Amino acid sequence: MQMVESQRRDCQDPISALFFPTMNLHTTGRFPAYRPRRLRQSLALRRMVAETRLSVESLVWPLFVCAGSRVRKPIGAMPGVFQLSVDELVKEATQAHQLGVPAVLLFGIPKTKDARASGAYAQNGIVQQATRALKKELPTLMIITDVCLCEYMEHGHCGLVAKNDQTGRVLNDPSLDLLARTAVSHAEAGADIVAPSDMMDGRVRAIREGLDQKGLSDIPIMSYAAKYASAFYGPFREAAESAPHFGDRRSYQMDPPNANEAMREVALDIEEGADIVMVKPALSYLDILYRVKTEFGYPTAAYAVSAEYSMIKAAGANGWINEQAVQMEALLSMRRAGADILITYAAPDVARWLKG
Ligand code: PBG
Repeated sequence: MQMVESQRRDCQDPISALFFPTMNLHTTGRFPAYRPRRLRQSLALRRMVAETRLSVESLVWPLFVCAGSRVRKPIGAMPGVFQLSVDELVKEATQAHQLGVPAVLLFGIPKTKDARASGAYAQNGIVQQATRALKKELPTLMIITDVCLCEYMEHGHCGLVAKNDQTGRVLNDPSLDLLARTAVSHAEAGADIVAPSDMMDGRVRAIREGLDQKGLSDIPIMSYAAKYASAFYGPFREAAESAPHFGDRRSYQMDPPNANEAMREVALDIEEGADIVMVKPALSYLDILYRVKTEFGYPTAAYAVSAEYSMIKAAGANGWINEQAVQMEALLSMRRAGADILITYAAPDVARWLKG
């Protein structure tokens, strides 16, 4: 039987039907009664009907902290980004916080690395020191710490590698305890949220249990739930000095062709106790972001990774694009796709631009 026009118009995808039961083609007028251009005529009008907005409250600024004092080491592949010693980090974070940036995400570059990543969970490790200093100076700044072992491992992988194994096979279960210890030591130093980025299976549960056992059950976990093995991390590995010395990360980070698998990763992390789930990278994975938000409805973060930042910076510096406009548009696309939280190296710039 042929569908009549009104029935055909009622067809919509099941997800939208669930969340927006009245949103179907009946609610849209027809030309010439309906002219979409009417609501685009002035800035005030466009702003009033804007469906999504960028606001400073959703920004998280990633920072790289290193040993020493008065250190500001520029990252060649990330113009405007530095490795900072704790004293300089506090200065930078103070400025960003004054601009309204509510949170930072800390990565540590330790003085020495070893085969058990002991710097990651050392009580006086670099992230732990930075966390204490920031908490003291800026009690209202939220401190999120990246929980991973790669920056602290002599081989640069995100988990333990069997002795004398040069194939880069990363051992899953034995790494979990080290990750949990790292998260606990960050929280004990004052971290407000811990963010595991290692992609070992089961790490959210291990971290949740580790925190709970120490009476830290109020510390949320923001898991890098759908983290892809991406070439867009290139500049970061210079910044964090964390490139693997052999092999690559494809045996633990997600394979870029897969989307359904990302839903399983997110489901697993939520079941294990994740409070916020992240999709990373952002711009090339907006479909994943959209699905994660619509299918789970959890607080969702998008990580605009190093190359996403560097490409915009480079093209802007060459005069090929308008850096500010492109940066804002890229971040807006992440909000539109469903991100509540935007992790971006451009956070202070964006905060400034939003102030106008
Ligand atoms: C560490 C980690 C990485 C990033 C965040 N945490 C690098 C990697 O997985 O190789 C990437 C961030 C970026 O590119 O901005 N596991």
